[in-house]
Amino acid sequence: MTDATTPVPRGRILVVDDQRNMRATTALLLKQAGYDIFEAATGEEALGVLGKERVDLLLTDLKMEPMDGLTLLRRALEVAPRLQVIMMTAFGSIESAVEAMRLGAYDYITKPFKEGEVLYRVERALERSKLQAAVDSFATDFAERHGLSALVGRSPAMRELTTRLVRVAQSDATVLIQGESGTGKELVARALHAHSRRNKQPFVPVNCAAISETLLETELFGHAKGAFTGAVRARRGLFEEADNGTLFIDEVTETSPTFQSKLLRTLQDGEVRRVGESTSLRVDVRIAAATNRDIELEVKEKRFRQDLYYRLNVVMLRVPPLRERLEDVPALAQHFLDRANARSPRTRRLSESAVEHLMTYRFPGNVRELENLVEQAAALAEGDELLPEDFPLRPQGRVLPATTPEAAGLPPSDAPRSTGAEATGPTLAEVVEDAERRAIVQALERHGVDLASVADELGVSSTTLWRKMKRLNLRPPAGARE
Ligand SMILES: Nc1ncnc2c1ncn2[C@@H]1O[C@H](COP(=O)(O)OP(=O)(O)OP(=O)(O)O)[C@@H](O)[C@H]1O
Ligand SMILES: [Mg+2]
Repeated sequence: MTDATTPVPRGRILVVDDQRNMRATTALLLKQAGYDIFEAATGEEALGVLGKERVDLLLTDLKMEPMDGLTLLRRALEVAPRLQVIMMTAFGSIESAVEAMRLGAYDYITKPFKEGEVLYRVERALERSKLQAAVDSFATDFAERHGLSALVGRSPAMRELTTRLVRVAQSDATVLIQGESGTGKELVARALHAHSRRNKQPFVPVNCAAISETLLETELFGHAKGAFTGAVRARRGLFEEADNGTLFIDEVTETSPTFQSKLLRTLQDGEVRRVGESTSLRVDVRIAAATNRDIELEVKEKRFRQDLYYRLNVVMLRVPPLRERLEDVPALAQHFLDRANARSPRTRRLSESAVEHLMTYRFPGNVRELENLVEQAAALAEGDELLPEDFPLRPQGRVLPATTPEAAGLPPSDAPRSTGAEATGPTLAEVVEDAERRAIVQALERHGVDLASVADELGVSSTTLWRKMKRLNLRPPAGARE
């Protein structure tokens, strides 16, 4: 309840500046405008406030010691991802302002500023904060209502996927789900069903790669009594089981052309014929199919029937690989750990450094690999706090620190590669060579003159390393030890 004597706070703002006068003046101005104000003289102090208080907006100076504004910005968004940030910069430091926006600041303001300008920008940032809160709570309701909550991850890529999923779920359109192994295609198919009008009817999955083709055929279509040796009685197929519900045809590209024609005919007619039966049965089935292959390529190379592809690909849902949405890693890791904790007498926690460690990884096995890593760590770790060393990552999945092409001894990427008039992209050999050069240069940066460690890290023998360096024209650092 509010009345005239307790005005509604218009927003909670944290003002950070190491110059006392500047901080006090800004704080006073905003207090008079009706905002709730917190003050901090350093980045560390500011993070302390953010850990304890709900803050809508962070207004911070850029140039501070020892923690500068950009570092504060980055760490603040880790603590409070929905925080709006306005960076206060001195006149002339436009590059830092741009960098701040890139790191997630909403706006910047150049010092010295006019009162009106601060108030205007603050108001605008808070408007946006309110809007975002509304969108978030809407999205949460949505997920709960529609069984999407099983799909953890709020990265832009996942949000786009779930929005699309909800939209197509309501229709009976056939959906083709494409994504690398372990990205969550089956979960997507289940969410699709959960949100469709068929959700009280069965969801029937069938994995085409898991069983032999003959068996697959009788599984899907059923068979008549005596259709083959051992068919002592007639049997319904999965198409019939899925009547009024959803049939999830997983790994659909792992089938033969003959099977594909039969599937196509069934989809076109909306009727199934049991193996060894002469009459057909009408079925009302919604189809979701999945593949982890590049299905267009399969069609082009004639391994997958084009007409079936068109039939299945009414709507395509692409599930992005985890490396393209690493921001989902903390939530996913926590989700899998919660599950492991629920089954165990111990309660493990993720350390911040473990999460950071995981986020340097490219997850060739996608979400399933993360799931396995967390379960393993939860089962084997010594302490209750899971540390980076509890998550052994495969070397081939390591993300190399980004360096400029010049730093890796390469021409700048926009430099012309050839003088040919029809110059297109690099050849495969060039790409491989570039990657090798980059990997070696970066490993050299880490290990300096210790070539044995460089070879070790790259998984090659010292001889191979020498040979490659020679071919790539990379000189060993002065004083290098073999
Ligand atoms: N967004 C997610 N939220 C929670 N769990 C997920 C998510 N995505 C995947 N998983 C989990 O990761 C594992 C792999 O997911 P799923 O089996 O759906 O992947 P897939 O794409 O079908 O893989 P494959 O191609 O190997 O069959 C499952 O245990 C699933 O529960
Ligand atoms: Mg699957």
